[in-house]
Amino acid sequence: MRDDNFLTEMNARHLWHPMAHPGEMQAAPPKVITEAAGVRITDLDGHQTIDAVGGLWNVNLGYSCAPIKQAIADQLTRLPYYSAFKGTTNDAAIELSVKLAQMFAPDGMTRAFFTSGGSDSVDTALKLARQYHRIRGQGTRTKFIALRKGYHGTHWGGASVNGNPQFREPYEPMLPGCFHVPAPYPYRNPFGEDDPERLAQLCLAALEAEIEMQVPSTVAAFILEPVLGAGGVIVPHPSFMPGVRDICDRHGVLLIADEVITGFGRTGSVSGSRHWGVQPDLMTLAKAMTSGYFPMGAVLANDRLAEVFEGDHSGMIGTGYTYSGHPVGCAAALACLAETERLAVWDRARAQGGRLMSGLQGLRKHAALGDVRGEGLMCALEIVSDRDARTPDAARAGRIFEATYKAGVMVRWSGANLIMSPPLILSDAECDAIVAALDTGLSSA
Ligand SMILES: Cc1ncc(COP(=O)(O)O)c(C=O)c1O
Repeated sequence: MRDDNFLTEMNARHLWHPMAHPGEMQAAPPKVITEAAGVRITDLDGHQTIDAVGGLWNVNLGYSCAPIKQAIADQLTRLPYYSAFKGTTNDAAIELSVKLAQMFAPDGMTRAFFTSGGSDSVDTALKLARQYHRIRGQGTRTKFIALRKGYHGTHWGGASVNGNPQFREPYEPMLPGCFHVPAPYPYRNPFGEDDPERLAQLCLAALEAEIEMQVPSTVAAFILEPVLGAGGVIVPHPSFMPGVRDICDRHGVLLIADEVITGFGRTGSVSGSRHWGVQPDLMTLAKAMTSGYFPMGAVLANDRLAEVFEGDHSGMIGTGYTYSGHPVGCAAALACLAETERLAVWDRARAQGGRLMSGLQGLRKHAALGDVRGEGLMCALEIVSDRDARTPDAARAGRIFEATYKAGVMVRWSGANLIMSPPLILSDAECDAIVAALDTGLSSA
């Protein structure tokens, strides 16, 4: 391997990082990760940490899942690529569509369309939603509504429904016809409402008012994450998503559940929608589908969509990717989902999520800790400079992040939030080590 200075210098000179300022990456070089095993990663200095980020919300099975690695190697040998565009397909893609239909049958999902990742999945779902209405003679239904603070990837459609100005402002103007309503975020919301159940009702009323304001016959879909991830792990009250389903139904609006993070167990259920007892019309998946070992995503659709698309010749799907149904990705996903089911990782997410949350609640003794929240194995600490005023303190969060890393745990520093989404195979001892390292980190700030 090249020496440390060479890699750091070349990174600064040649590599631009997603969601980062190039100048900042030169001034404060990123950590160069060179190896991983189990739930641990090692950087260029040989410093080993528990990866409490789980890659980027995706490495649900940790870094040593032999069946996925073997499946990738076998598929590369047998058939490294063939397309699934009109006229051809491949066996791995067919098998995966069957597996997903079986796994997500309780969510009402029956059809799969493959993509290369989450942003692809979101943009495909938005397009399919518009096309569904058009086929049914309701071509005026073109608008999308989403939650403020929601994150739906980086393509134009996803960026346009994103609810964080940071990801939108440099690329304006966004797609016309995208509107946002407040997220059910008890710690910070425009209603000053701390009670999650009352807040859910206020947010539902705001959604319905927005649909009425836009005129329902112009609204194609509402898109939401069942638990908001990148926006800071915002957990809605259990009444929220059923309320959303009801409002969508009453106004003929499709419900898209963006399950790029919540799919495959992270919340403690197979899907976030199932966690809240709701069946969406379209579901976007990616990330943990291959535990991050291969770029892969999918959009799932229910029979309501399938009947419309399959029953009319104008239902030709005019979108897709060279790598839709990539056989290596599909083989990786098949092996990953077999392991995901064998280990029943959703049960582990629930058990370890409970353990992690109770450990994190114990850190409230630190004045810098404004809020602790989570569901399953996705959680966040919000760092403040003044607890009463709830003043967010991103710089302090950065210092805590560095001290926690030194103490042996990688968390994700995002503004004033420290976010965790560790592999779902986390042991009790590893769970406790995360809390201990954060305790050290918080003490130092
Ligand atoms: C909910 C959600 N949707 C979409 C995306 C975009 O996925 P990708 O980065 O794979 O394009 C993400 C990424 O974090 C996500 O969290």
